[in-house]
Amino acid sequence: MSEVTNTVRFVLDGRVVEVKGERRTTTVLDYLREDLRRTGTKEGCAEGDCGACVVMVGELNAAQNGVDYVTVNSCLQLLPTLDGKSIKTVESLKLNGHMHPIQEAMKECHGSQCGFCTPGIVMSLVNMTQTNSHPTRLDITDALSGNLCRCTGYKPIIDATYRACEHQASLRLDDQADVALLKDILRADQPTLSLEGDLIVQPVVRTKKGNEFVSPSSVDEVADYLIKHPNATLLAGSSEIGLQVNKEFHRPDHILYLGHVKELKDIQTTPSLWKVGAMVSLEDVMHLVKEELPDFAEVLRRFGSPPIRFTATLAGNIANGSPIGDSMPCLMALGTTLILRQGSKTRRVDLDAFYTGLKKNIMQASEFIQAIEIPRPQAGQIFVAHKVSKRFEQDISATCAAMTYVIKNECLSQVRLAFNGLSPSPSRAFALEKVLEGKRIQDVQASELDQAIAKSYTARDGLRATWAYRSLVARNLVLKFINTQFSEVTAS
Ligand SMILES: Cc1cc2nc3c(=O)[nH]c(=O)nc-3n(C[C@H](O)[C@H](O)[C@H](O)COP(=O)(O)OP(=O)(O)OC[C@H]3O[C@@H](n4cnc5c(N)ncnc54)[C@H](O)[C@@H]3O)c2cc1C
Ligand code: FES
Ligand code: FES
Repeated sequence: MSEVTNTVRFVLDGRVVEVKGERRTTTVLDYLREDLRRTGTKEGCAEGDCGACVVMVGELNAAQNGVDYVTVNSCLQLLPTLDGKSIKTVESLKLNGHMHPIQEAMKECHGSQCGFCTPGIVMSLVNMTQTNSHPTRLDITDALSGNLCRCTGYKPIIDATYRACEHQASLRLDDQADVALLKDILRADQPTLSLEGDLIVQPVVRTKKGNEFVSPSSVDEVADYLIKHPNATLLAGSSEIGLQVNKEFHRPDHILYLGHVKELKDIQTTPSLWKVGAMVSLEDVMHLVKEELPDFAEVLRRFGSPPIRFTATLAGNIANGSPIGDSMPCLMALGTTLILRQGSKTRRVDLDAFYTGLKKNIMQASEFIQAIEIPRPQAGQIFVAHKVSKRFEQDISATCAAMTYVIKNECLSQVRLAFNGLSPSPSRAFALEKVLEGKRIQDVQASELDQAIAKSYTARDGLRATWAYRSLVARNLVLKFINTQFSEVTAS
């Protein structure tokens, strides 16, 4: 982290934008609207739920000959995270005075009424068509799952997407000009961005309080920085931190952004496990596990929306430790191990033993999650998971459950079961595992499961569900998990 700068550089519509002296916590949305006057991008909720603020953000691809774009909720992303990247807003779509085919089709199919949601919807659809110009209905509804429209209804929007896809040749955005500019603004070492809100004159000095937005390039630098600044706020996908900034007005002194650390984006696959770096997005994890663990992939498909999954990380979900965090029941049922790093030391910890209470865990000062080891399913092992929530997508769980087991001598064996929503942190359900272990599926009694649930957890009504509902769902999910398998066994 040799360089210290107060300048953020990013590419926008064929030019490099240099931003000096902005706050560390200015959001991309505020900067677009208030400084660049790009008011096509809207603010609805400022918490990642409505999609009115969706823009496309891209980075050079591995071959450095194109830009990989994803949608992001600009209300949640902090401006300094744009350094070295390219952004496209709805205004970027105007080509030689013509609208993008998606916009034309939205007009022709009456896909917009009040229009407040429309720029975000258009950006989600344009982004999808960059990699998928033959979308199925499910592809389209998935792409739109983070865009709320309160007046038009989705049918004309879906019709517009099909119509636009008839003009395939013109769907793709030309990113060649962006490629050259992105190469120009690549930094050899990621800089320390000294951003406090005051204009900083050259030579660059840190502000009085020494507040920084630090964006290292290597894991070693992350570890060193945390030793020196144990209270620094780690920033990954910003889907939680962005909320803290917008809704709780947090202004962390030191922000340590992991988005430029290549090692943390690494995925290694061995015959027995996937090792996933701390900056791997939930979208990438979803694709990784899709074939071998379709239920886990389905839980992730229902995690937030594409702009959340493209940015939010698995490590962020684990570290955040919400009692209704969705990935943890699946990870616990599989027997996941975390690799924690502190200075030059690493240690391995079972995810089962990670949480100590409500949003509390065993990580010490200066320690962070470096990687996550997820065991791959072995021959004969069955993995099942399901999330119950009020809405299908873009909603956090009432309860999510996951289970692994094998059938041995017609009996359930090696049972691992985990839930969220029942206790202050996601957890294994040891008492229920004991009820199931060694039993024939047809001998499992609902009442035994109810007793084990009552014995294991403290009844608590929550905002998302009452205890009566949650405990009933928890028991029924277990019955569903084993009975599906039982009907398959007996039918074959
Ligand atoms: C609209 C919306 C929908 C959502 N939907 C869901 C959902 O369906 N299911 C669900 O479970 N959650 C959901 N969430 C919550 C959130 O998206 C997840 O918890 C997400 O995985 C957090 O990851 P992140 O990379 O964005 O973390 P960040 O916001 O960057 O960080 C979250 C926390 O983790 C810490 N942290 C990050 N990386 C590390 C690391 N490597 N080591 C140690 N600490 C670290 C940060 O310091 C911070 O305290 C949703 C959030 C929003 C805004
Ligand atoms: S303003 Fe609603 S998702 Fe960003
Ligand atoms: S057109 Fe009004 S919210 Fe979608």
